[in-house]
Amino acid sequence: MSLPLLTAVTPQYEAGLTTKLGTSGAVHVVRRCPDLAELLGAVAAGIGRVAVVSADLRGLDGAAIRELLDHGVLVLGVHRPGDEAGERMLRRWGVAVVVPADADQPTLDAALAELTSRQDPTTAPSASADKPGPGAEETADADGSVGHRGAHATVDPEESGDAVSVPPDRGRVVVVWGPVGSPGRTTVAVNVAAELAEVDTPVILADLDTYGASVAQVLAVLDEAPGVAAAARAADQGNLDRATLLRLAPEVTPGLRVLTGMPRPDRWTELREHAVQDILAECSALVPVTVVDVGFCLESDEELSFDTTAPRRNGAALAALEAADDVLVVGSADPVALQRLVRGLDQLREVTEAPLTVAVNRVRPGAVGKDPGSRVRGALRRFAGLDDVVLVTEDQASVDAAVLEGRTLREARPGSAARTGIRELAGRVGGRTLAPPRGRGRTRRATARV
Ligand SMILES: Nc1ncnc2c1ncn2[C@@H]1O[C@H](COP(=O)(O)OP(=O)(O)OP(=O)(O)O)[C@@H](O)[C@H]1O
Ligand SMILES: [Mg+2]
Repeated sequence: MSLPLLTAVTPQYEAGLTTKLGTSGAVHVVRRCPDLAELLGAVAAGIGRVAVVSADLRGLDGAAIRELLDHGVLVLGVHRPGDEAGERMLRRWGVAVVVPADADQPTLDAALAELTSRQDPTTAPSASADKPGPGAEETADADGSVGHRGAHATVDPEESGDAVSVPPDRGRVVVVWGPVGSPGRTTVAVNVAAELAEVDTPVILADLDTYGASVAQVLAVLDEAPGVAAAARAADQGNLDRATLLRLAPEVTPGLRVLTGMPRPDRWTELREHAVQDILAECSALVPVTVVDVGFCLESDEELSFDTTAPRRNGAALAALEAADDVLVVGSADPVALQRLVRGLDQLREVTEAPLTVAVNRVRPGAVGKDPGSRVRGALRRFAGLDDVVLVTEDQASVDAAVLEGRTLREARPGSAARTGIRELAGRVGGRTLAPPRGRGRTRRATARV
């Protein structure tokens, strides 16, 4: 089995060494750490099973090596060619396998073989078995089964993998963001994903909201579905591949797979930025469109912290926005929410370069007066310089009914007034014209919710 490998090597030899390590079958490079702090942070997060460190890495000492070894990481030491003092020092610190930084491929392969043969079979790792962290139970339980969603709920990853056509190029990542105040991010994300999903155009809907994930509930997928927590853990361990993702993102309607969010908001620390990057990269290698629901907050104050390895609560949203090909911005159609939307757009432009499609949800006369659509458009033209806004009509009865049944509007209330705007949004971010809606939703079992 190929082990996930981290490097923390001084620049002079880093690239050459990483290339050779990358071609070795024994390991695969999951992170090239520019410094010791990042290496220790990655190891503490459970990323990597092998670490390559160079003797002249700034700050490297016996305590750092001990910390790596205590985490069960196999350490390969490298030193400048001829630097005998460096070699001795590494060995004194407890690094058993040491090679010159310009070692050739066979020498490196032999060193890796020696290293992996040294691991203690009682403590060594299957990726999911070592150091069970908070997400371990999901990985263990991840059998692809979901809750109330019957027919499409149990997925054989390999089998369904065959049914998924991999996009020739990378699929698009559409991030749905909106400011504080629950403007309807999740409603829009779920329903836009549903409109885009077809058997031959599969979509993954990923819930990366670190403040209040709710896609599982809206779509009646059991709370304990492994979802993004297990995907993040697999990414941390360098094991997130196509089969794992398919297992963790069950199909809830034909063509629509769901990666449910963190089951509890206080577990946000498990969703680190690098894991989000890996998850979205894997999703976009698998399906033509990935729709992502993220939390409202875009502040990155934690960056000011001296602890560079500290997790950032908004890191998931920021990483998703950085990876986005399109951002769908959702505001709500009342005066307070519109002001937040205007401010939010400014903030957003600082964190993403992706094109923005702006939607105003819950458009209704009660909140802004007669002819609410024109008023909303007028306000956004005046205060945000926006000429192009998609309006989604208020339709509480339909949205409520769909959530109650754990279904999408397309399934539960295909004639909903809110669906018109949602389909327009889907058409814009999906890069294709959608077929006209059928009059009726697909017939599926009715699912009562309490
Ligand atoms: N077009 C609509 N018409 C009527 N009600 C709607 C509409 N869109 C959303 N809602 C309702 O507004 C509420 C908030 O929606 P939603 O959960 O989608 O917002 P959010 O921005 O994801 O909120 P959160 O801050 O919880 O993540 C829900 O009760 C939902 O049913
Ligand atoms: Mg939400």
